[in-house]
Amino acid sequence: MRQKLVIGNWKMHGSLAANAALLDGIKAAPARARLAVCAPFPYLAQCQATLAGTAIAWGAQDVSAEVRGAFTGEVAAPMLAEFGCAYVLVGHSERRSYHGETDATVATKALRALESGLTPVVCVGETLAQREAGETEAVVGRQLAAVVEALSIDQLGKIVLAYEPVWAIGTGKTATSEQAQAVHAYLRGQVASGSAAASADVAARMPILYGGSVKPDNAAELFSMSDIDGGLIGGASLKAEDFLAIGNA
Ligand code: 13P
Repeated sequence: MRQKLVIGNWKMHGSLAANAALLDGIKAAPARARLAVCAPFPYLAQCQATLAGTAIAWGAQDVSAEVRGAFTGEVAAPMLAEFGCAYVLVGHSERRSYHGETDATVATKALRALESGLTPVVCVGETLAQREAGETEAVVGRQLAAVVEALSIDQLGKIVLAYEPVWAIGTGKTATSEQAQAVHAYLRGQVASGSAAASADVAARMPILYGGSVKPDNAAELFSMSDIDGGLIGGASLKAEDFLAIGNA
């Protein structure tokens, strides 16, 4: 049985004061799901100070594909580990589209995260044009395959996968629970069909989150689907009340 996981992706939002209020609100009430927040880099110390000792985990939104060196502006996985991060998002569609991240880069980032004991939340998803062209499975399958190829089966067993259709991110348009379930089932099937003996077991245990306009009023239906193990929440993770409502959905 996979426990539900709800991760907030704050994106480039927040301030010390706003985060303090948000984190206090999230800490104040229990949630049925495991909760985590992925904050901008400068606020990781604040998350660590505020959330250490609570049931709520924290993480970053990106990580360098390099371990150290002359890479101005980059943040390495061992640095995230020092700030107590449990998770790091890799391959979010905003990184893929605005920063030119390729499938290979995303796979390397997932590997770097694992090497430092972090759980990479590998994001995949198709654009509206790709969906309308009937390419959804080909696109998410290709994005997933790069990660499967780069990792050992043991490492693959430690990742979280997130399906985020690009057309549903920040648009208020959610995939229907059936649309999302179909892609989640496809992704789990792809993991299960790997050549390693443990592939089916790894697939059965892999948390696959849905992201894209998840709100308190649609979370319960999405999370009721058999292959949807929780959510990756953008806008609604910035309000403690909404984030907790989703964590309890
Ligand atoms: P929204 O929940 O704001 O649509 O964002 C989803 C997302 O991109 C989470 O990573």
